[in-house]
Amino acid sequence: MTAAPPITKIAQGNLAHDLDLSLEELHSLLHLAADVKRAPATYSNGLSRKSIALLFEKPSLRTRITFELAIQQLGGIAILNNAPIGAREPLKDVARNLDRWVSGIVARTFTQKTVDDLARYARIPVINALSDIWHPCQILADMQTLQEHFGELKGLKLAFVGDGNNVAHSLMITCARLGIHFTLAYPPKYDASPEIIAKTRQIAAQTGATITLTHDPNEGVRGANAIYTDVWASMGEESEAAERREAFADYQVDDDLLSHADSSAIFMHCLPAKRGEEVTDSVMESPHSVVFDQAENRLHAQKALLLMLLS
Ligand code: CP
Ligand code: NVA
Repeated sequence: MTAAPPITKIAQGNLAHDLDLSLEELHSLLHLAADVKRAPATYSNGLSRKSIALLFEKPSLRTRITFELAIQQLGGIAILNNAPIGAREPLKDVARNLDRWVSGIVARTFTQKTVDDLARYARIPVINALSDIWHPCQILADMQTLQEHFGELKGLKLAFVGDGNNVAHSLMITCARLGIHFTLAYPPKYDASPEIIAKTRQIAAQTGATITLTHDPNEGVRGANAIYTDVWASMGEESEAAERREAFADYQVDDDLLSHADSSAIFMHCLPAKRGEEVTDSVMESPHSVVFDQAENRLHAQKALLLMLLS
């Protein structure tokens, strides 16, 4: 029988963004997520009836369902509120109501400031379930998926083709920490945040990861073990969809682009995907695609996160 790994506490007490997890905690989380997936029943009382509020300002399928399920399957209680945060009353009051009732907050927000302010005012753990800047929960599941597929993460090459957005930010900083070579292939004007790129480069200098920025998608994916993409217009950017379709037209992940990567490369997408835009139906359905493994691992990785923050 395999012994269950220890559940280490996350010292920061929140996951407002990726770097709230120390590197050691990130490794522990991935180890725990693998065990949670292997033996879910072991953890069925991990939250021992604790209640957790799920606050969603934007739509969600994966994040919402997997958090609700994760909380239920760990023996906790999930309470959902779909509404703007801080519109009906000041956010600091929302935070200080919630921390009298529940043990944790999971929040999907328009701005990162909303997540940061919840973490600032609530005396309970706050988890970022996607903001305009970061999507840390997605990337935990992605790292679990890469680990399942390749075993060792250090030295892999991952190419993100598309918008320098929330998913790209969380991905680049986590790849750098784990020694994964990261390339961002993106159209002019759709850069990632310069501050996050600078921080990523600083981390990469310590781990030996390389960080490459290019406007050439073929060059960007050359030799890649994984190609990752995301929608061209994120939630909140719907009015820019037509303009973005034009700007990103040469950045579609299709069979031809895939053929420039390593022959056994995997295709990754956080989903939802817009087939015919950032990715073709053919790539989504190809044997290279691991998108549903990523979606499945949202459940396991978030269970590990909840256990490390709240058990
Ligand atoms: N990947 C992801 O976060 O999906 P949802 O928007 O459906 O939650
Ligand atoms: N970048 C996308 C991710 C969706 C999971 C968005 O923010 O809409």
